[in-house]
Amino acid sequence: MSNSQLTVSQITGQAVLQLDKLNKIFNADTPLQNHVLHDVSLRVCPSELVALVGTSGSGKSTLLNMMGLLDVSTSGELRIQGHLIQGMSEQQRTQLRSESIGFVFQFHHLISAFSVLDNVLMPLMLRFGKPSKEQIEYAEHLLNEVGLSNYIAQSTSRLSGGQQQRVAIARALVTRPALVLADEPTGNLDTQTADEVFALFERFNVEHQCAIVIVTHDPRLSARCPRTIRLTDGRIVYDGPSADLPSVFTVTP
Ligand SMILES: Nc1ncnc2c1ncn2[C@@H]1O[C@H](COP(=O)(O)OP(=O)(O)OP(=O)(O)O)[C@@H](O)[C@H]1O
Ligand SMILES: [Mg+2]
Repeated sequence: MSNSQLTVSQITGQAVLQLDKLNKIFNADTPLQNHVLHDVSLRVCPSELVALVGTSGSGKSTLLNMMGLLDVSTSGELRIQGHLIQGMSEQQRTQLRSESIGFVFQFHHLISAFSVLDNVLMPLMLRFGKPSKEQIEYAEHLLNEVGLSNYIAQSTSRLSGGQQQRVAIARALVTRPALVLADEPTGNLDTQTADEVFALFERFNVEHQCAIVIVTHDPRLSARCPRTIRLTDGRIVYDGPSADLPSVFTVTP
């Protein structure tokens, strides 16, 4: 890659996401205390595609919720595009989240009373109110890219699971986020549909240049991400090229 193809943040080395010694203790100071994340440090750079893997209960969703500013850490520092989260008000965190982060969950949380298009526009409507003509055109463009241009006016309840997840991906991208966080987005889908949905993440990662962190239990899919982060009991035990992941880690229950 030549210098002219690098983004400003790649040249200056600014990470989209940076975690320094992040800890999460649920129910701290009670007998039910549960120390779930231990000194988690990592950086995600623009346009990276990262798999986050680990056994059930290892802390993947907890970590993703921290990264997405849906929950706060007990200690440590987290930065989104250089902005330090610790010390921000809830309102500031909400604003940064809506500007910089898109989410895709295993259960897509679409609103069946709304059309496909309105579901995709929802993050923009929550932020700006009535969407502009450009915003509507961009949402339609995204729905075209995920292969749903014929379903724009339909209710989401009439779509298949794979189609609903495609709507959720378009919704996550409609704000042009620098970071997309996906928690087992293919966990509910059959193998072929999972492959197709995953291919959309790969494509958007390149075409929209957004960093993507994707939680998956499927070693076939994590192997397709250039980088894998592996959690065991809330600690990072591997962070590197997916191809070099020690074989002891490649089978996840
Ligand atoms: N709100 C909460 N209060 C207390 N404990 C919690 C809470 N959320 C998660 N935990 C605990 O944190 C640990 C990690 O849970 P988490 O959901 O992050 O795991 P996971 O790796 O995403 O698992 P899975 O693969 O099954 O989704 C578990 O022991 C869980 O019980
Ligand atoms: Mg989880």
